[in-house]
Amino acid sequence: MIRLGVLLSGRGSNMLALAEACRSGALPAEIACVASNLASAPGLGRARDLGLEAVAIDHREHPDRESFERALAARLQAAGVEWVCLAGFMRLLSAVFLAEFPERVVNIHPSLLPAFPGLEAQAQALAHGVRISGCTVHLVDSGLDSGPIVVQRSVPVLEGDTAASLAARILLEEHLAYPEAMRLLLTRSWRVEGRRLRISG
Ligand code: GRF
Repeated sequence: MIRLGVLLSGRGSNMLALAEACRSGALPAEIACVASNLASAPGLGRARDLGLEAVAIDHREHPDRESFERALAARLQAAGVEWVCLAGFMRLLSAVFLAEFPERVVNIHPSLLPAFPGLEAQAQALAHGVRISGCTVHLVDSGLDSGPIVVQRSVPVLEGDTAASLAARILLEEHLAYPEAMRLLLTRSWRVEGRRLRISG
């Protein structure tokens, strides 16, 4: 069974969707460790409720980003983690962390990238007046919400939408997109060619 690590800073609904996909057999993997930079992240408690190992590594207790990232990577590796899924993890990860899991760090973002990277993507989409938005699962590189796209799912933007109502509609698709993307990455043959993820088998 492939061992996943999930990094989160918030409520952890995408972590739950991944855990359910592992439990049901839809995803041939198990979650070996859930980690957060915030001990107060509700997602850590939800992971413990499922019986998962859940740890907090506080970035404020480290002198610099590199030291925090080395500690985080070491903790995940000690749990046997092979793939890292970012699920609402609010720290940018540098090449120091990414080098520990080459082409094995994945993120989910609540917009159709490359549109609206960064914070408050749903509000950005609404302010721009787009008619369609959605979510993107992508491999992580050292840029902000850049990296080869694995799966995207779209939703309509409706006339009366607020950032919250759009976010809720997108979140339902996120819970389908993340397990789908991980299944693809773990079970198909692929390679990265320039910006593109090429699926070859
Ligand atoms: C999601 O909208 C995800 O796309 C973004 O952060 C949010 C995390 O939500 N990166 P949750 O903690 O998984 O519920």
